[in-house]
Amino acid sequence: MSSVPKGDYDGIRAEVKKILKRPGYDDGSIGPVLVRLAWHASGTYSAKEKNGGSNGAGMRFAPESSDGANAGLEFAREFIDPIHAANPWISYADLWTLAGATAVEAMGGPKIPWKPGRTDFASEVAATEYRGNIDNRLPDAALGAQHIRDVFYRMGFNDQEIVALSGAHNLGRCHADRSGFDGPWVVNPIRFSNQYFKLLLTRKWVPRKWDGPFQYEAIVAGTRLMMLPTDIALIEDPVFRPWVEKYAADQALLFKDFAAAFGKLLELGVDRDGTGVAHLVKGGGCPFAA
Ligand code: HEM
Repeated sequence: MSSVPKGDYDGIRAEVKKILKRPGYDDGSIGPVLVRLAWHASGTYSAKEKNGGSNGAGMRFAPESSDGANAGLEFAREFIDPIHAANPWISYADLWTLAGATAVEAMGGPKIPWKPGRTDFASEVAATEYRGNIDNRLPDAALGAQHIRDVFYRMGFNDQEIVALSGAHNLGRCHADRSGFDGPWVVNPIRFSNQYFKLLLTRKWVPRKWDGPFQYEAIVAGTRLMMLPTDIALIEDPVFRPWVEKYAADQALLFKDFAAAFGKLLELGVDRDGTGVAHLVKGGGCPFAA
């Protein structure tokens, strides 16, 4: 792991790219779990309560670190810790979000707009004091369209952005020992593309017969692929479905819309002052909000 000059974020991107390949771990890349870390770090945001979001890097501490929804993300945090150790000038909050953005790009996806400036909670005590109550804000894969809307509208996303963001399930897999669900969504889960949307529309997804939680399956090219109940909700809902169809037909449109929506996700709750620093405020949220 190399040290790069303070403020050299392209240098950090290069460091992240160096560690993505990991034979023996899942499908040979830690990229997908880094994308999930960036998403779960950011996806606690509430536009109304003006708290949650990536600023603070609260997942280093309980209760976020031990939230069942974040099971497995300790691996992602450990994988990128050496980059922080070599470059302590970058905040964890910036590093986690930049690593997720870099991973998407490195796996063949679009360039994600990203800006630095996030600040870390100084300690668990500070996190508790500043963060506010952000429990149970991440989505539950066993539920349906209404729940998806409740969660993503709370962050400030619309239906089109929800479908675009869901395209991230082209990456990685579910782990029975993390979420309870099992398997990848696509045949090549370390390459970003619009396969997820194509498969949603073209395969017959049937309930998997097994002891685990309710999920769907289809055998594609000899590989057992999966869909979560929330994934299938995207083709059953009359407003989500046309966006699934658009993204299945037009990968360039998906890349453009995914980059915008993922970039917006990473920015939620990150309110910078004139010098570009996003300060932490008690209860979370924006220091300039009324
Ligand atoms: C994995 C649920 C939205 C990115 C997972 C897993 C679940 C899940 C249950 C499996 C975790 C495991 O067992 O390791 C959901 C639900 C969503 C949602 C219910 C919304 C309704 C998103 C979004 C993104 C995302 C918006 C990013 C933009 C990922 C990635 C993985 C993943 C990359 C694979 C992680 C790995 O391979 O370790 N998701 N997710 N998800 N999710 Fe989502």
